[in-house]
Amino acid sequence: MAKSELDRDILRVLYSEDDIRARVQELGDQIYEDFQGKNPLFVGVLKGCCLFMADIIRACQLKSEIEFIAVSSYGNATESSGKPQITRDLGQDVTGRDLIVVEDILDSGNTLYFLARYFMAKGANSVTIVTLFDKPERREKPIKADYIGFQVPNEFVVGYGLDYGQRYRNLPYVGVLKPEIYEQ
Ligand code: PRP
Repeated sequence: MAKSELDRDILRVLYSEDDIRARVQELGDQIYEDFQGKNPLFVGVLKGCCLFMADIIRACQLKSEIEFIAVSSYGNATESSGKPQITRDLGQDVTGRDLIVVEDILDSGNTLYFLARYFMAKGANSVTIVTLFDKPERREKPIKADYIGFQVPNEFVVGYGLDYGQRYRNLPYVGVLKPEIYEQ
């Protein structure tokens, strides 16, 4: 198949569609085992969670519900501002709920450090974090995910929800962006 205009900006593929599908199913199976009978609320952190959220909830056939919150600390920049802003708040009361927070990537940790406290302050019973990607070497805040898909190197990765300048989220795989794209 001919390369798309998105594919042409990718230096190399890190995780193919098949790699991601297989790993998401493994995570879904683990979460299912751990949360049976608990009626958890999956909370997707927009926008990066968009593809992962859709796939993880289908990979995990629990009696559960879904909710979203939108947070941004990067805007169009490549470095975190360190100050996450809620741009769309929760649409429901989470008092007493067991939350499973769904993120595409845990990087500096600023977003999830902030959100974990925010959700507990809102009265959640528990906050469990599932992230598809983790970049532990970039961490600035003491926060760990409970379920991790892949540990990724400190490179600029895009696709499967991850953006550069709001683009590339719709790539079905995850790849490293060509440096000339963000250096220009
Ligand atoms: C990205 C990503 C995570 C966060 C992780 O979101 O989706 O939410 O950064 O980075 P951190 O661990 O350094 O906080 P971003 O703020 O870019 O918004 P987006 O989800 O709309 O892309």
